[in-house]
Amino acid sequence: MARHPFGGPWTQLKLSILRDYLNFFTKALKGKGFTLHYADAFAGTGHQSLKATKGQDPMFPIEDLDGSAQIALNIEPPFHKYHLNDLSNEHYNALNELVSKYPTRDCRVTRLDGNEFVKQFCQSLSSNDRAIVFIDPYSTELHWDTLKHVANSQRIDLWLLFPISALLRMTPNDPDRLDESWVRKIDLLLGTSEWKEALYKPKPTPIISDMFGEIEAPGMERLNVEEVAQFVRSRLGEEFAYVAKPATLYAKGTPLFLFMFAVSNRVRVAQALAERVSTHILRKYQRRR
Ligand SMILES: C[S@@+](CC[C@H](N)C(=O)[O-])C[C@H]1O[C@@H](n2cnc3c(N)ncnc32)[C@H](O)[C@@H]1O
Repeated sequence: MARHPFGGPWTQLKLSILRDYLNFFTKALKGKGFTLHYADAFAGTGHQSLKATKGQDPMFPIEDLDGSAQIALNIEPPFHKYHLNDLSNEHYNALNELVSKYPTRDCRVTRLDGNEFVKQFCQSLSSNDRAIVFIDPYSTELHWDTLKHVANSQRIDLWLLFPISALLRMTPNDPDRLDESWVRKIDLLLGTSEWKEALYKPKPTPIISDMFGEIEAPGMERLNVEEVAQFVRSRLGEEFAYVAKPATLYAKGTPLFLFMFAVSNRVRVAQALAERVSTHILRKYQRRR
């Protein structure tokens, strides 16, 4: 089996949230006449191999944990169709090996760029379909415009891992230190070239200013982490009917990712149910860091 060490303790937190929501989704929509799809754009291998840590006893057993694809395949009642995608050849092969162990599940494995996969998947849906799309990149591989396909479908609930640590790294506190080579990447990540105006604000004016000289303009500084997270949430809110307050995933106290949930369905009853359940699940796990 291909080893795939990634993530950290926050990974299992994220996957627990996903598992709870998948469980709810297939139960709630069972027998309602819909075809239920699970689409995983950055599916990995189906397993999270634990990383060996420095000084660890070499006899210490290293067990693989279930990754998103395996979790989804184990959901009961099952989805009608599984769409598993990963760009890595090794991971694509591992996914094929994984689905061969589930002969009763209807699975399609692809090796596309995640953005192209999501676009094609959204275009393939018809009115009777309902889906969950899980987008779980390592970092900044997802382009914001891809999310527009999900939002426009009006039949997909989205779980998205947003790399807030990468965004914070690319946008230093002092805007004069912005590295021009990151600009295009940030444009793609946020789907706008106007992020600089949104992410930077004037520094507070000092209470005691120089009484004898000219008062210098206070200059600009980047929003704090919570404000940046709020900006990302509001961007998603421009596309989707409902966006939950994200779960922030931390490593050693540092925010790494926002785990975000959004509903594309504009039907109020469907939205309200998804909102209630996702809020309950996110709150349950938000207390654990
Ligand atoms: C964080 S891992 C996914 C983990 C998986 N969701 C799980 O829970 O087991 C990210 C995956 O994205 C894949 N990947 C990286 N760039 C990609 C791209 N542009 N399109 C699709 N997959 C990509 C990597 O090969 C890797 O398997």
